[in-house]
Amino acid sequence: MRFDTVVRGGNVVTPRGTSVADVGISGEKIAAIGPDLEASPATKLIDATGHHVIPGVLDVHVHLELPFCGTVSADDYRTGTRAGARGGVTTLIDFAIPYANDSLAQAADNWMAKAEGKALIDYTFHICITRYNEHRDQIKGMVDRGFTTFKEFMIYESEGWQSDDRALFGTLEKMKEYGTMLLVHAESSRVLDELIARHHTPELMKQYGARLHRMTRPNFIESEAIQRVVTWSEVTGGQLYIVHMSTAEGTEIVKAAQKRGVPVLAETCAQYLVLDDSVFDRDDGHLFACCPQLKKPADSERLWQGLKGGEVSVISTDTCTFNRDQKAMWEGDWTKIPMGMPGLETLMPVTYTHGVLKNRISLDEMVMKLCTNPAKIMGLYPRKGAIEVGADADIAIFHPNTTMKVECATMETNADWSPFQGWDLAGFARTTLSRGEVIVDDYAVVGKEGRGQWLPRTSAGLKG
Ligand code: URP
Ligand code: ZN
Ligand code: ZN
Repeated sequence: MRFDTVVRGGNVVTPRGTSVADVGISGEKIAAIGPDLEASPATKLIDATGHHVIPGVLDVHVHLELPFCGTVSADDYRTGTRAGARGGVTTLIDFAIPYANDSLAQAADNWMAKAEGKALIDYTFHICITRYNEHRDQIKGMVDRGFTTFKEFMIYESEGWQSDDRALFGTLEKMKEYGTMLLVHAESSRVLDELIARHHTPELMKQYGARLHRMTRPNFIESEAIQRVVTWSEVTGGQLYIVHMSTAEGTEIVKAAQKRGVPVLAETCAQYLVLDDSVFDRDDGHLFACCPQLKKPADSERLWQGLKGGEVSVISTDTCTFNRDQKAMWEGDWTKIPMGMPGLETLMPVTYTHGVLKNRISLDEMVMKLCTNPAKIMGLYPRKGAIEVGADADIAIFHPNTTMKVECATMETNADWSPFQGWDLAGFARTTLSRGEVIVDDYAVVGKEGRGQWLPRTSAGLKG
């Protein structure tokens, strides 16, 4: 067999096991995996000796150029996808959100336009249902157009995004009917609003500053909402995916529900695994405001266990970059902090360094949570998510121990700060291939913007 490229002699992680092997690539696809693959004079050879060779990472929770909290998130499809590629990410899924009177189709068109000509890696969108009465009859059309995952928010009334129980229940019924999946941001809006109102006084803001973010979002804000929407999934049979789960209590609820056979899956994000809410004691603590907020070390520990145990299926980032000048909009009032942080570039390095190198999860388990599970759950497998013959040749190659310091000035993200600033992390991609093309070489982005493709889908969830 003739190969355009052979990745030579790396420690290759495949669904059938991990071993030293070559990966042969023809066109955009993986054509062979095995020892000593034959190369012609025209074959490009990539030496992976002493390196891990894993499938390209899928970050299935990303917000690029998102209008939110009175500003627009600072990584767009150019900087965001370049950042991802440097961290071994070859596929991302963003959220297409309808603004003003937009239909679901218009929201998708708007997000297509953001990505067009800029994306370096492949992408698709979860379609957000923000006005259930109008949007419910548009869901089927979006499924026919190749979108199989939908999203509802249980908070963000002021953004015009909030869904009530009737909408969640009705949308889950439709998910059951179409074999599609509903992603839910689960937080309890009314009680959250009440806690915020009780604390929103000049005296308390002066005394506690950004610590009020932690004080107004106790764990039950998330767990009550997860419990409620899990009930709607249980009674409708509609597939449910809890996004950015941050609490031990939420993890327990998901585990118990899965045991009962409820079709619920959960993701967490890298920041919930390695950071905790003590950051709000820092002088720049307001930078770390995100939603849901960071929790306690015990929550992180339970989430790691959930990854190991299986109740947490995916690690993503919820990338929603706001720079220091945007975060400064808070002026001492924590309710005005744009919520979100950068993450695409550091997803794999943080997971590898703090998960695999600290023996919390194995390399194979990392690949499952960053690549194979997200691809399967989001309807992109077997095209994405595994090093297998016939799959897209999306590959990340990294050295097991070479570390780099997180320093925004030298990174691809448009962020001027990082939650992991100054951390030494292994797991940055030395080489990233996307559909057979080298887009990161020797840690530098070499791929051209606009080469990324939209990925149509026909299924979602483990039952899709
Ligand atoms: O703080 C966050 N997560 N910002 C993005 C919006 C969301 O809820 O995912
Ligand atoms: Zn959210
Ligand atoms: Zn999000």
